[in-house]
Amino acid sequence: MRISIIGTGYVGLSTGIGFAYKKNTVTCVDVDKEKVKKIKSGVSPVYEPGLQEGLKRFLGKSFDVTLDLERAVKESEISFICVPTPSLPDGKIDLGFLKQASKDLGKVLREKDYHVVVVKSTVVPGTTENLVVPVLEKESGKKAGKGFGVCMNPEFLREGSALKDFLNPDRVVIGEYDKRSGDFLEKLYKNFKTQILRTSIKSAELIKYASNSFLAMKISFANEIGNFCKKLGIDVYEVMKGVGMDFRISPKFLNAGIGFGGSCFPKDVKALVYRIKEEGLKPALLESVLKLNEEQPMKIIEILKKRIRNLKGKNICVLGVAFKPDTDDIREAPSIKIVKRLLKEKANVIVYDPKAMENFRRLFPRIEYSDSARKALNGADACLILTEWNEFKNLNKKDFSSMRRKIIIEGRKILNIKEKEGVCW
Ligand code: UDX
Repeated sequence: MRISIIGTGYVGLSTGIGFAYKKNTVTCVDVDKEKVKKIKSGVSPVYEPGLQEGLKRFLGKSFDVTLDLERAVKESEISFICVPTPSLPDGKIDLGFLKQASKDLGKVLREKDYHVVVVKSTVVPGTTENLVVPVLEKESGKKAGKGFGVCMNPEFLREGSALKDFLNPDRVVIGEYDKRSGDFLEKLYKNFKTQILRTSIKSAELIKYASNSFLAMKISFANEIGNFCKKLGIDVYEVMKGVGMDFRISPKFLNAGIGFGGSCFPKDVKALVYRIKEEGLKPALLESVLKLNEEQPMKIIEILKKRIRNLKGKNICVLGVAFKPDTDDIREAPSIKIVKRLLKEKANVIVYDPKAMENFRRLFPRIEYSDSARKALNGADACLILTEWNEFKNLNKKDFSSMRRKIIIEGRKILNIKEKEGVCW
């Protein structure tokens, strides 16, 4: 199929390259000139495994990128809206980009034969039908379900493995405005080996929030049990291994540590909490999930302060600042809260991360950055591991030998050395 994709963030770009792998012709659109220029030159604006290779393979052949939304939509049969829906301070989502994209799309639909518009951006239940559809109808002068089709197709991509997840999904959820729209989108997923669930648009919107909230809840649960384990001198990983063996629970997303970050979990749980409250209900469980997660990063500071009471002037080496490995993303990363606190306590912070230092430097321009873990450890009074990057797995006793004091605290379980202490293990 000929596809256009509005928005070239990590979702839009992974979706675009993914559909190109599945033998479709894709045009991605963005309003950001610099981004478009970068992608056009074959460089992915986000670090995401596989995207660079995909660009090299398909750019100028079955994949293109442009600022010209009108051309991209005119030349395609189906358009995916992959624009961001960021959180406002109160947790509500900002629908500005979505509204604009719907307007621009609607105008082009005026002169088009049947075309399907698919919302992939994460939006609270009701948004597609109450915002996207009316705007499309107004701008196009056509009726949804007749002149054009509408679907909501949530993404479940994890950063760091977005392309892999796109190509091998657990399931594809198709929320359909009407049967014709759903049938059209299902055709596009025909060559994916997966189960397809067809639902109402609102259900599809909520499936995304409910899935992310459930996973976030598993993590906060593991952290709550983990904090208890720490008191009792138990390794929470051993406990969760036993818990996860129950197939009803599954071992996934039970890794305790310093809490979840990223562009999705914190934002999506907050948005769901906000929306539930709008209905006059009390989302007690989800509020606890968030509260636990707010407090969890400080567990590593508590442990550090038990070992070094006064952090003023102490060299604290921070290994890993990305919110998870294999990404340069630091959005809502626990490292931000931890480094802020270290600076408040007047410690000297030395950071090393394989990919995320450039982004971290924008937030913390004045702290010290090192170009290797080994160098960062030199002369450190303590080392905090905040991201479980593979390259930290192989750090051994010798690598830590240049530290002034051997205080090594893990926020994510990764090291294989005796001298370490974990937040929940
Ligand atoms: C998540 C969802 O997994 C994905 O389906 C959705 O589309 C987008 O949000 P992502 O944010 O990329 O993906 O990362 P994920 O691997 O889910 O991890 C999120 C956060 O949870 C990270 O900070 C990670 O370190 C933390 N985490 C994850 C834990 O603390 N423990 C775990 O067991 C798993």
